[in-house]
Amino acid sequence: MAKEELKFPENFLWGTATSAYQIEGGNFNADWYEWEKKGRVERKETAGRASEHYHLYEKDFDLVKGLGQNIHRLSIEWSRIEPEEGKFNQKEIDHYRQVLRALKKRNIKSIVTLHHFTNPLWLARLGAWENKKTPRYFTRYTDFVSRQLGEYVDFWITINEPMIYIDQGYFEGVWPPGKRNQILTGLRVLANMIKAHKLAYKTIHQNQKNAQVGLAKDNQYFDPYRKNFLPDRLTVKFMNYFWNHLFLKKTKGCHDFIGLNYYLHNRLEFRLIKASHLFFNIRNENKSLSDITWEIYPKGIYYLLLDLKKYNLPIYITENGIADSQDKKRVRFIIEHLKYVHQAIQERADVRGYLHWSLIDNFEWDKGYRGKFGLAKVDFKTQERILRPSAEIYAHICKENRLLL
Ligand code: FCB
Repeated sequence: MAKEELKFPENFLWGTATSAYQIEGGNFNADWYEWEKKGRVERKETAGRASEHYHLYEKDFDLVKGLGQNIHRLSIEWSRIEPEEGKFNQKEIDHYRQVLRALKKRNIKSIVTLHHFTNPLWLARLGAWENKKTPRYFTRYTDFVSRQLGEYVDFWITINEPMIYIDQGYFEGVWPPGKRNQILTGLRVLANMIKAHKLAYKTIHQNQKNAQVGLAKDNQYFDPYRKNFLPDRLTVKFMNYFWNHLFLKKTKGCHDFIGLNYYLHNRLEFRLIKASHLFFNIRNENKSLSDITWEIYPKGIYYLLLDLKKYNLPIYITENGIADSQDKKRVRFIIEHLKYVHQAIQERADVRGYLHWSLIDNFEWDKGYRGKFGLAKVDFKTQERILRPSAEIYAHICKENRLLL
């Protein structure tokens, strides 16, 4: 039987995404390090040496190249660049210049994230994003980095997943600063991040004429738990606005593209007593789950892409992936998601790239090293990278720019 072929648009970008703190190792000047020292990560793990990408980046980029990818997303660790308030470390910025040059040398485009969850300790001590001066601090750091590295950067992401940052740190209290149910403080953080994104957007454009600047937006696909129950439906409506669109609307005009990180499908059940979850409960029973119990729901990416069409901006999928240490579900996960990406493109969603999370196993925040998201497994004793079978399948798709079903 002839195979079905789904071709992606010409010049479609294929890659993987990472973040500095999760793979570099040796980051001891960020709020997450303190959090780990307090034993707040599963099994009391610390990021420690992580995947030693700080030293092994050339090797890792050889992997990227070998796997047929033409774009790569990484982040700059703010606590390295500005270890003390207002003091910038030239040696560290030179390091990132080398890193970005290594990508250029391999003819791989770059997406550079400026804030990916971690804060320098000095900033955490000033209240991090609760402080109304933080948008200015962030802009000063952005100004420095974009002047120094602009020539090597194809796409900038100011902030990664602002809603997750707020939810985990201020509503759930499972990430720094560990505040629970602090809705008003969370909203203050949100306002400061919105301001910071706008300022950073302008700053980067001042420093780099043709810059492409956006956000990695953590949209989720929400469903009512009880399909015909009005309160559940209204909860979905509210969350769709609050979680998926508020940030984008408040920063209108300050996006050259939209970065979409897609992982989660949640069924919402309205519950008045559950103020901790903004009056709802998440009910995902009996679904297909990843190792860290996130539901696998490929069609969500299709709905979210169609929902983003209204912004009339190019869309890049800046993250999508699965914790699957045995690599039993990853191939299907990738193929199913890409089928829906393709379908959304047929329906005129302007999707221009897909970056899988992640290239290599890494430190998965509160889950520590239990969340194995890598196309390559990392042996954390030897730092050896061992390609999982799914890596080859993904490489084939990237090289061919099409899916064969
Ligand atoms: C996203 C984060 C990323 C990684 C993946 C699994 O929410 O942006 O750092 O942890 O989830």
